[in-house]
Parts: sequence; C-alpha cells; structure tokens
Amino acid sequence: MNICVVGLQWGDEGKGKIVDLLSESADVVVRYSGGANAGHTVQRDSREKTFALHLLPSGILREKTMCVIANGVALDSEVLLEELAELETRGIKVGDNLRISGRAHLVMDYHKKQDRLSEESLGKAKIGTTIRGIGPCYSDKAMRSTAVRAADLLDLDRLKEKLRVIVEGKNKMFAALYQDSEPLKSEYLFEKCRLWAEALGPMITDTTALLHGAWSQGKRILFEGAQGTLLDLDHGTFPYVTSSNSSAVGLSAGTGMPAKAVDRFLGVVKAYSTRVGAGPFPSEQDNEIGEYIRKKGHEYGTTTGRPRRCGWFDTVCVDYSIKVGGIDEIALQHLDTMSGLKEMKICTGYRYKGKKVDFFPAEAEVLQQVECEYESLDGFEEDITQAMDFAELPAPARKYVERLEEILARPIRYVGVGRGRQQTLTR
Ligand code: GDP
Ligand code: IMO
Ligand code: MG
Repeated sequence: MNICVVGLQWGDEGKGKIVDLLSESADVVVRYSGGANAGHTVQRDSREKTFALHLLPSGILREKTMCVIANGVALDSEVLLEELAELETRGIKVGDNLRISGRAHLVMDYHKKQDRLSEESLGKAKIGTTIRGIGPCYSDKAMRSTAVRAADLLDLDRLKEKLRVIVEGKNKMFAALYQDSEPLKSEYLFEKCRLWAEALGPMITDTTALLHGAWSQGKRILFEGAQGTLLDLDHGTFPYVTSSNSSAVGLSAGTGMPAKAVDRFLGVVKAYSTRVGAGPFPSEQDNEIGEYIRKKGHEYGTTTGRPRRCGWFDTVCVDYSIKVGGIDEIALQHLDTMSGLKEMKICTGYRYKGKKVDFFPAEAEVLQQVECEYESLDGFEEDITQAMDFAELPAPARKYVERLEEILARPIRYVGVGRGRQQTLTR
C-alpha cells in the first residue's frame, strides 16, 4: 500500500507527526516538494525533545526506512548537513538510508539574498516568505539557464564555470534592482559546493529509477507532502503561496511516479486553522480566541519561530483541498488544543457581497472580503492528552469530530491528542 500524506490547510497541520507514525509500516519515505521552508516536528515519545526536520523525510528516525529527497525538492545543502549533524549528535546515524535526486535544484546563497531583498522592497505587499530562497530557486528552475541541480555537484569543473557566469549576472541584478553594493563571490560559493559534493555526492542518484524499482518490487512507499494545499503555487491562495505544487498534484512532477502509484491519499488538518505569513484567512480569530489557541497549541513557526495566525476550522477551504487532492481520508490533529473553549465554531460557508459563495474563490481579493457562516458546537473542559481510544473522549469532542466528518464526507481515520508518536487515536 502506497500512501501520500498532504496538508489540507496552510501548512503545519502535523504532517511530520503522522508520517513518522505511518513510516513504521513503510519501506520508503519520500519528500517531493518544497525545501527548508518546511518544518516537520516529530516526537518519538512525549518525554523526548522534539526533532524539527526541514528537508529530511520524517521516516528518518527509523533505521530501516529508505528516505528519498526527490526531484521536486529545492535542496538547501547547508540546512541538510546541519540536520544530519544534529541527528548524529542525538545518536541517529544516517548513511545508506538516504538518497537525493540528481534532478533536485540547489538553493544557493544568492537565492536567499534575492528572497530577502525582494521581500524588503515589497513593503506592505510582501508575501511573508520564510526567506529560505525558495521562490528564487524555483524561478531559476523555470528559467533553466541559471539553474543548478544536485547532479552538477558531480562535475565540479563544469559547475565552477557555470557558477562564475550565474553569480556575475545575479550581482548585476542585485545592484540594478536593489542598489546592492555587496556582490557575492563565485569562488566562495564554489568552495561551498565542493564541500557539499564531498558530503552529499555519494547519496546523489536517479531517485525516479529507485522509486520505480521499489514500486515494481511491491515495496511500501510513503510520500510526504510539505506545506499545504492552500499554499500550492497553482491551486492555493495566490500570490500568498509558496513556489511549488505543495498539494497532492505535486507528487507526480516531484517524483516521476504516476498518481496511480498511490493507493491512498491521506489529508492532514488541524482541529482549527492556522497560517504563517501574509494572505487571506477568512475564519481568522485575531482576538482572545486566536490567542488562546496559539498559546495552548504552541502555535509558533517550526522554521522561523513567527507566531502563527489562528482561527476556526474552515470546511470551505478543506472541502476544496479534498477535491484538488482526491483525498480519501483524514488525520485531524490538535483536538487536545480545543479543550477549554466554551464553544467550538465551524465555518460552513462564505458570503461575498451578501451572496452565498458556492466554490472556493480563486482570487485573494475576494477571499479577503468573504464573510464566514458558522455553526457552533459545545466545547469541552477535560484534558484529553492521555486518551487511548476515541470512545474515551468527552461527548462534545467526539461530536465535533463526527460533525466535521459529516460535512467533509471523508472518514477521519486518525485523531491527534498530543505531540508524541503515541498520542494519535486510530478510528
Ligand atoms: P507539519 O509542518 O505539518 O509537519 O507540522 P509542524 O510540525 O510544523 O507543526 C505542528 C505542531 O503541532 C508541532 O509542534 C507538533 O509537535 C504539534 N502537534 C502535532 N499534532 C499534535 C496534536 O495532536 N496535539 C498537539 N498538542 N500538538 C500536536
Ligand atoms: P510545512 O511543511 C507553513 C508559507 C510562508 C509564506 C509562504 C511563502 O512546515 O507545513 P516561502 O518561504 O515558501 O516562499 O513562503 O508560505 N510557508 C509555510 N507555512 N508551513 C510551511 O511548511 C510553510 N512553507 C512555506 O510562511 O507565507
Ligand atoms: Mg511545519
């Protein structure tokens, strides 16, 4: 059974936690999109310090699992090496169980610089990116002539000349567009590439061939989405999105595997909504309710530490994400965070200029102005973090889950009641 795990909101739904859990019965775990803008938190047991993974697939904590960084990923080698070093200091040695696609594009220093300069120059209109160089790296991928791929690390002489030309062009662009007076040095960047080649070279391979081989041998493959459907470049709340296809549609382009290789699409949501960065968020609660959720759920970015914006569960958004991703079933995280709220609201529809909206709007400007229609359910007070079974949960908590299941018309297979690997109830 091959499974794709994908976020159905604006990221940080708890994908890392569910991938870590499901990787127990997977042979291969694959990241297919995004880069070090992602932050996937994994906690093996509730007493242990968490692991924050940015590029490594969340199956990496299991020795026998083959982990693959596929072609769709924007690879920041510096972050990857830091992550590997951190795992090693915590007793987890990664070696033969990690493979990197030669087709993956490399994030370079000039991408991060461009990301920062662009955001600074946009002022109020900024996207609120993670400044990890993601947009500029994918732009160069589309541009082709200015792109650097992981496989280029295997031919350093060619790369040296290529970098010289690219860096010269980037420096001219930074000076012209942003009056930048600190040009980057291509020799310095090349030296970095040499070190990356030494450390990562042996892991670089054709992962498309590897994955097709695994599929034909009947191995179990788990595809790990990054970000969420509403941050997808084509299908999200454009322009307040990331620069890759972070919904389930990115899987084929990002791996070279056909969609029919996947038996089950598992969508991950939180029991409420969050968003980091700018952009429309119809059910946002910029008030004491949002503040309560942020504090209780520790809603601060895994990658940037920024406070996440919080709001009620929005079934209009999630229903759209289910449709785009062909989602079969759902994992609902953070139900424990809802305890202590007097009422729990669910957004069930939008009105735009007084009229009912019948499909998720494509324009950010429209989404910015819609008014949410809510259904209100009773809250619960109990601490549910120790629950072992869905039936043990207080009636209002069960009712909330069952009502969401009814509206979304998909089974909610997993319910999260805490950060730890074991704090997931299976239904
Ligand atoms: P991802 O990007 O989708 O992998 O999610 P993140 O790791 O960025 O953010 C999810 C946060 O919620 C992390 O801090 C997780 O440890 C935490 N988390 C996940 N599931 C649950 C849950 O059911 N309850 C609580 N309280 N925390 C959870
Ligand atoms: P995971 O995988 C939440 C958001 C940024 C910003 C927008 C564009 O942990 O769910 P970018 O740096 O990609 O150009 O920023 O996308 N964003 C995320 N938000 N979780 C993520 O990843 C995100 N990755 C990018 O905050 O609004
Ligand atoms: Mg995250």
